[in-house]
Amino acid sequence: MQEKAAKVNQEIIKKFISIRAHSEHICKPLEIEDYVVQPVVDVSPPKWHLGHTTWFFETFILKPHDKNYKVFNEQYDFVFNSYYESVGARVVRTDRGNLSRPSVTDVYHYRTYVDQHMETFLKSNPLCSEVIELLELGLNHEQQHQELLFSDIKYILGHNPLFPVYSPAAVLDEYTDLSSEFIEIAPGIYEIGYQGEGFCFDNELGRHKVYLERFEIAKYPVTNRQYLEFIADGGYTDFKFWHSEGWEWVKENAAQSPLYWHYIDQKWMNYTLAGLKDINLNEPVCHINFYEAAAFASWKGMRLPTEEEWEVASPEIKWGERWEWTNSAYLPYPGFEKAAGAIGEYNGKFMVSQMVLRGASVATPKGHSRATYRNFFHPRHQWQFMGIRLVK
Ligand SMILES: [Fe+2]
Repeated sequence: MQEKAAKVNQEIIKKFISIRAHSEHICKPLEIEDYVVQPVVDVSPPKWHLGHTTWFFETFILKPHDKNYKVFNEQYDFVFNSYYESVGARVVRTDRGNLSRPSVTDVYHYRTYVDQHMETFLKSNPLCSEVIELLELGLNHEQQHQELLFSDIKYILGHNPLFPVYSPAAVLDEYTDLSSEFIEIAPGIYEIGYQGEGFCFDNELGRHKVYLERFEIAKYPVTNRQYLEFIADGGYTDFKFWHSEGWEWVKENAAQSPLYWHYIDQKWMNYTLAGLKDINLNEPVCHINFYEAAAFASWKGMRLPTEEEWEVASPEIKWGERWEWTNSAYLPYPGFEKAAGAIGEYNGKFMVSQMVLRGASVATPKGHSRATYRNFFHPRHQWQFMGIRLVK
C-alpha cells in the first residue's frame, strides 16, 4: 500500500516539475524589460504570472497543509493575489505593471523556493485527497496561465512599434487547405457536461440532458481567406451585421480588422510571435472578439453554435487551434455548486456578462483541454487565440 502511495507521489512530483518548468520555458526568449510591462488592464506582466502561479501553491497547499513551511515573503500575498476576496487585500489589477519590485530575479527565487518546498512536501506519505485535488487544480491553473503568458507576451510585443520577434520558431499553426464541409447533427436529446475520473473544473460538472434541433456545423473554423472577404465586402462598415454593443465597439475603436492585422503597402500583414508576416490565408482567423464572430456569421447568413451544439458535435469536427466563441452566455449548469472557501471563487463568481468559448488553441498546453471545457471571456476581448465556427 505504501509502495503504491510512493509511486503515485513520484508521478505527481514529475508532473509538478514538468508543468512548473514549462512556464519558465515560455519566458525564456524574453528580455528583462518584457517581464514588467502591462500595456492594458487585461494583460498582466509575465513576471506577475510567474509569481501569481507560485503564490497559488504557497497559499492553498503549503501554508495550510505543510506545518514546517515558512512563507517566502509576507508581502507577496498583496502583490500576487489575483481576485481571491477570501485571502485578503491585493494590488489593484491596473497596477500590476507599475511594480518594479519584486524584481524578476526575486520572482525566480520565489519559484525555486516554493518548488523545493512543494517537492519535499509531496514526497511525504501519504497525501490526503484534499491535497491531491488542490495540486491538480494548481497545475491546471498554472497551465491556464501558460496560455495567458502567450497571449500577454504577444500583446506586449505586438503593440511595440518595433514588432519584436518572440521566437523565429514560434509557428503555432498547422492547418492548410481547409474545406468548407458541414456536418449534420440529428435532432434529439443529448447529454453534456463532464463525466469520468480525471480532472475537470467545477463549471463542467452537472452532466445533464439537452434537446437540440437539427443543425449543420462547419467541420473547420473560419479561415483568414474567408475573413478577408468579409472585410472586403464592407463587414466593418455596415451596422446591420452587428449587435448594438458590437457596433458601438466598432465605432469607438475604429475597428477594421482582427487584432494584430496591419494594412501596410496596400496589403494586410499579421503580427505573429515570429514577427510581422504576410497573412496565411489557410490559417483559422485569430484574435476575433465575440462581436466580430457574430457579425461575420450574420454576414454569412449563418450563426455561431451554442455550447451544447458544440459539445455534441465535437467528436466530428476539427478543433484545437482556436478558442471558438459560442452563442451561449456563461452560466452555471444545473446543480452547480461552489467549493467551500477561497477555491469557491475560482469560477462561479464570473458567471455574468461573459460568453462561453469551446475547444482549445495553439497556445493551450497539450493535454490541458477537453470537449467539456468551458472557457469564458467578455464579448469585447480579442487578445486570446480566439476564432469562429459557423452553424447553419
Ligand atoms: Fe490565476
